[in-house]
Amino acid sequence: MDIKIRKVAPLQIKTSCLVIGVCEKSFSDPLLEELDRKLGGLLHKAQHNGEFTGKSGEQILFQPAGHLPAERILLVGLGAKVEVTIEKIRQAAGSAMQRVAEKKMAQVAFALPLCAAKKSDSAACIQATAEGLLLAGYRYDRFLSEESKKMRKLPKSVTLLIETAGEKQACESALEQAQKLCQGVVIARDLVNTPGNIKSPDYLAEQAQKVADESSLKCKILGQKELAKEGFGALLGVAQGSVREPHLIILEHHGGGKNEAPVALVGKGVTFDSGGISLKPGEKMDEMKMDMAGGAAVIGTMLAATLLELPINLLGIVPTVENMPSGTAYRPGDILTSLSGQTIEVLNTDAEGRLILADALTYVKRYEPKLVIDLATLTGACIIALGHHATAVLGNDEKLVQSLLNAGEESGERLWQLPLWDDYDQQIKSDVADVKNTGGRPAGTITAAAFLKKFACDFRWAHLDIAGTAWRDQNQPYTPKGGTGVGVRMLISFLQTLSKTA
Ligand code: BES
Ligand code: MN
Ligand code: ZN
Repeated sequence: MDIKIRKVAPLQIKTSCLVIGVCEKSFSDPLLEELDRKLGGLLHKAQHNGEFTGKSGEQILFQPAGHLPAERILLVGLGAKVEVTIEKIRQAAGSAMQRVAEKKMAQVAFALPLCAAKKSDSAACIQATAEGLLLAGYRYDRFLSEESKKMRKLPKSVTLLIETAGEKQACESALEQAQKLCQGVVIARDLVNTPGNIKSPDYLAEQAQKVADESSLKCKILGQKELAKEGFGALLGVAQGSVREPHLIILEHHGGGKNEAPVALVGKGVTFDSGGISLKPGEKMDEMKMDMAGGAAVIGTMLAATLLELPINLLGIVPTVENMPSGTAYRPGDILTSLSGQTIEVLNTDAEGRLILADALTYVKRYEPKLVIDLATLTGACIIALGHHATAVLGNDEKLVQSLLNAGEESGERLWQLPLWDDYDQQIKSDVADVKNTGGRPAGTITAAAFLKKFACDFRWAHLDIAGTAWRDQNQPYTPKGGTGVGVRMLISFLQTLSKTA
């Protein structure tokens, strides 16, 4: 897909499909008036009979039959003018792109109203448009026949229209930013969508190595032997049920000063979560190939950070294992000694994510990080609490949590904070060990975070539970069903702000 920025009047462009963003009650806008004249009044008619009024999510397709250089006009609703946000532009671009790809149109031009979004300049609108269309165009088609792949086809050429020549440079750079950012999201989605028969911990480590080889990231992989020698007792407890070797993936981006403390990202990398001896029910167990989405977000963010040349030092840590039941599997009642020295009573082998994260959080301490953010598809309880519309955020540093909430708003990957009061600690007290790995049904997302908190001392830390946001089983405007790549865009936004203010 070749994407270009051009200053051309929308109604003068020759293309297979011209996409125009329309706000509610803005049909008297000169561009729309002219369009309506060329269409012989069809636009006002559509408005009057309620077929297209500019509400967010609405679309209408016209074929102007020679009255305009464009073969088709696709109008997309953006909602009330005062309520247009960058996220609405992303969504409008995304749903337009889905339609264009389905209809196999060869070209498309976007004229979403620049500057219409509150507090945003045209470069920000161009970036949002590019993000929306790039992410909506994504499909996981690795295992589809050539025949099925042809069912939809991305346009060869995409044009993003701007209004004045003066903004071209800024818009071109915004487009480039979006392309780099989306590369990170796409790698994360690909990794999440890869089925468990292929995606072993070995595979995940190889892919991380490959990402590093093709960029300026550094990569180090620890294997079973090294993990045993270091004392990763909690991680190895989970891994012992699988014939597949566990790993710790370590990625580094050096964009800051030589002695500057790194920001550390830690991502859960359970390549398949059967539950282990505490076996999960069969229904939807297939989706548990996505239980490494936190790790995928870390790998994707590291790639985007390095492509965008963020001026900070970043560390990406992904503990990766497979959670399986077998004769060698760990059992309920087992007591594991973690890397931190704290002992853990395992009451449910399906609460495995917090075990591998505990050791990874302990390990990261030796890098003396400035702050640590972990991402994990950690609890089903998070889906009960927030559904699929928000990632849960909890932490030991209110300022850090606030910055993450802001980044969530900016990126469209929204977060919602849950409390992490000490009161919850008693739910994970054990009679026979320092802590137990489950806290019962009440506040499952919080007690999981309370468990992690015991291993995240000595640094500023936030935990993101992405159980509800990492996987969608219905298409969204710019997120096709399957792995979403959630986390990458939010974290890059967070890191960009951090590097500007720190
Ligand atoms: N990976 C799951 C959580 C999950 C469930 C993510 C559904 C995405 C969708 C996690 O390892 C898990 O099984 N958690 C248990 C914890 C419980 C045993 C304390 C859960 O949520 O049921
Ligand atoms: Mn589990
Ligand atoms: Zn899990």
